[in-house]
Amino acid sequence: MTSVESRRSDAFVNDRKHVFHSWSAQGAINPLVVARAQGSEFWDEDGKRYLDFSSQLLNANIGHQHPKLVAALKDQADLLCTVAPFHANEARSEAARLIAEIAPGDLNMVFFTNGGAEATENAMRMARLHTGRHKVLTTYRSYHGATGGAIQLTGDPRRWPAEPAMPGIVKFWGPYTYRSAFHSADDAEETQRALAHLEDVIMVEGPQFVAAVILETVVGTNGILVPPPGYLQGVRDICDRHGIVMILDEVMSGFGRCGEWFAVDHWGVTPDLICFAKGVNSGYVPLGGVVISDRVSASFRDRQFPGGLTYSGHPLACATAAASINIFREEGIIEHARRLGTDVIGPRLEKMKQRHPSIGDVRGIGVFWAIELVRNRDTREMLVPFNATGEAAKPMNDLVAACKARGLWPFSHFNRIHVAPPVNTPDALVNEGLDIIDEVLDLADVYCS
Ligand SMILES: Cc1ncc(COP(=O)(O)O)c(C=O)c1O
Repeated sequence: MTSVESRRSDAFVNDRKHVFHSWSAQGAINPLVVARAQGSEFWDEDGKRYLDFSSQLLNANIGHQHPKLVAALKDQADLLCTVAPFHANEARSEAARLIAEIAPGDLNMVFFTNGGAEATENAMRMARLHTGRHKVLTTYRSYHGATGGAIQLTGDPRRWPAEPAMPGIVKFWGPYTYRSAFHSADDAEETQRALAHLEDVIMVEGPQFVAAVILETVVGTNGILVPPPGYLQGVRDICDRHGIVMILDEVMSGFGRCGEWFAVDHWGVTPDLICFAKGVNSGYVPLGGVVISDRVSASFRDRQFPGGLTYSGHPLACATAAASINIFREEGIIEHARRLGTDVIGPRLEKMKQRHPSIGDVRGIGVFWAIELVRNRDTREMLVPFNATGEAAKPMNDLVAACKARGLWPFSHFNRIHVAPPVNTPDALVNEGLDIIDEVLDLADVYCS
């Protein structure tokens, strides 16, 4: 053992020896050993407490160790731990029934997966088979998962090392009024120009070859980009005009994150497919899926759907999904999440913006917010460049370290800090976390010209 190892727990030492981590240079990481968690807090093995302002990876919407959800998991474990996907089973049937109940319009059937990437993969597959076309349009500012097709659907730089990859995926610009690709002055102009741009892309790609448009309803990791009024309805109309399947990726934005069951409920639009994962059962057991409209499922009534997973509709995962939906209803969690956005987080961030010159923009909905940091409010120069690493990322790394030192575990991406605690976090804890962010933003202000 080296002297470093001798000071560390077995959990840490064995992690560094044997666990190969996601998205990491294995020699460059120093993972925190999490020993326990409760509600919106977790503790490391030294007993240091953190406020979880990232809900782990934006999945623990109901918080940690919710007693009723843990009980539902234990009950299902006693009853039946595993069952093949070709059998029917009470846990799976009930989860599917409840998900169809909360989904908009005629989205009445559920194909279960183990997570979000498999959901977007299978949604793409369904759209291609349903339409008999192969092209899929996705936005540059997006993440749709890390498997072969999902990473090609992804717009952000995580896609780059996977290329050249699956052909037929075409990128376009979605709306983002603060950094408009269309030089729009306001949301109304952004909606109109972004829709005209999408129409143009479809025209030059050949609408008869386009199977699907896939969008994160509210773009998550790539900026908490809330679509401006009229945009989603406009996409719906374009898809209808050309017989294109509209897929909404609600892996991050669903299940209360945006203060509704699905973020799209804010705009009253019914897509053809919705991808979900994460908040469906807060990741107590891995689960994802695709909610399928009657129109698309009809394509597979007499024809085989050529896709499947050994653990599709796993009973432990489905039992926790059904229990979680019921707990959300019993405890008014959707309403709480909505109110956190309108009455607590939104107003506090607006106030912070007045105090900190480094805040260029604050935006969000429900419990899904971004603080976008700049060096200059007039030019909107980002606090750190796009996809910065190493020394170039130092201003953001310092902010994150300062949050952690004060017991706040933040979510950061590029030049943004996101505010995304569990959606049932009590007001007092949300305010405690926002106080810490308010304090550490002084570190960003020094870069402002
Ligand atoms: C919008 C979106 N889609 C898909 C995924 C992929 O989900 P998973 O990591 O469960 O495969 C993510 C993960 O962060 C996501 O945010």
